[in-house]
Amino acid sequence: MKCVDDFRLKLGNKELVPIMIGGMGVNISTAELALEAARLGGVGHISDAMIEDVADKRFNTSYVKEKTKFYKLNIPKTDKSIVQFDLGRLAEATRMHVASTMEAKRGDGLILVNCMEKLTMNAPRETLRVRMASALDAGIDGITLSAGLHLGSFGLIEDHPRFRDAQLGIIVSSVRALQVFLRKNARLNRLPDYVIVEGPLAGGHLGFGMDWAKYDLATIVDEVARFLKAEQLEIPIIAAGGIFTGSDAVGFLEHGAAAVQVATRFTVADECGLPDDVKQEYYKSSEQDIEVNTVSPTGYPMRMLKSSPAIGAGIRPGCESYGYLLDGKGSCSYIVAYNREVAHQARGQKIVVMDKTCLCTHMSNFNCWTCGHYAYRLKDTTFKLPDGTYQGLSAEHIFRDYQFSRHHQIALPQPLAV
Ligand SMILES: Cc1cc2nc3c(=O)[nH]c(=O)nc-3n(C[C@H](O)[C@H](O)[C@H](O)COP(=O)(O)O)c2cc1C
Repeated sequence: MKCVDDFRLKLGNKELVPIMIGGMGVNISTAELALEAARLGGVGHISDAMIEDVADKRFNTSYVKEKTKFYKLNIPKTDKSIVQFDLGRLAEATRMHVASTMEAKRGDGLILVNCMEKLTMNAPRETLRVRMASALDAGIDGITLSAGLHLGSFGLIEDHPRFRDAQLGIIVSSVRALQVFLRKNARLNRLPDYVIVEGPLAGGHLGFGMDWAKYDLATIVDEVARFLKAEQLEIPIIAAGGIFTGSDAVGFLEHGAAAVQVATRFTVADECGLPDDVKQEYYKSSEQDIEVNTVSPTGYPMRMLKSSPAIGAGIRPGCESYGYLLDGKGSCSYIVAYNREVAHQARGQKIVVMDKTCLCTHMSNFNCWTCGHYAYRLKDTTFKLPDGTYQGLSAEHIFRDYQFSRHHQIALPQPLAV
């Protein structure tokens, strides 16, 4: 039986180990994690989600504090339309995060940035243009467009000097989404360099409705492969979502995919941004502890641990500090849900909002424990220690396990001396 290392992904002039670590916002896929993927000859992602918050934590800047101060008087108001991002600061924070990552890059792999369209930031087009252009300015190897159809995203950067040489790709969950993207961008004469096909078992937001279980990744990869072949388009397909072992990956590499994108296995890596106690929650989880729900204000279903503190919390919307999901008119479905509960609040009663969550604040505090369907298998990838916790893993260990494992085996780490 083959292993992943028997294959290579050709992107631009590079021959890469066909393993991408997917973007995991907000700074769950850290620079350190992406750098390991690149060092090992694969592809890593950083994310530009809540970039000012990430920059503050990484570089000790105070973007969030200053924004909160500037819009302080608006905090009690329900109308958030005046809360805007300063585009100069947004560009600065993005450049800092990207440039410092790229300066540290070693090895032959690539580092891309995951750019979600659903982060509408109260000025969808302007902010997205700045995010993408600043990342290109700062030397990112490429951009993965995600969480949205991105019908106008290429057009926003068509005048950038790196538009034609940076690696630009898109995540789709259906052949239809790819067809619409290609049609809308035809005038630019610029095809995506890769297409990530993400199935319904992935972590984060899903490109499916609540009927996600009716779909399966292999079928969608096959449909996309047949469509590209019929159109005589040679765009590498990267399969994502529920690929838990190297042999799962080989299955896709032998059937039309040029690489795989994986994430859940890396949520417990030492280099991953989740706090250690949250990593232990991921390890401990059973299949029944994981759900797909609709609490995200983006409108997309999201998979997470049912015990995520973000579910059912009734905190005040944090838009003056964050505001990444404001739709361009100063609204977010969490604000609506929160205000509804406030209007019905009995005196002294704690506010609980069950249907939506303040995703910005909770992602910033690592309180929304999003994960892929197979997170419950993470416990099988390491040892349980005498104190009941699970032994940590390095990103290198997990990466190499994907790269070299055969027969669905998962390599355990060197046991810690106890
Ligand atoms: C904790 C976590 C956070 C994620 N965040 C994002 C994100 O911000 N943007 C995105 O496009 N995909 C996100 N994803 C999806 C991954 O990039 C990846 O495509 C998918 O999870 C792969 O499936 P797997 O987790 O089963 O390996 C996230 C996944 C996880 C597990």
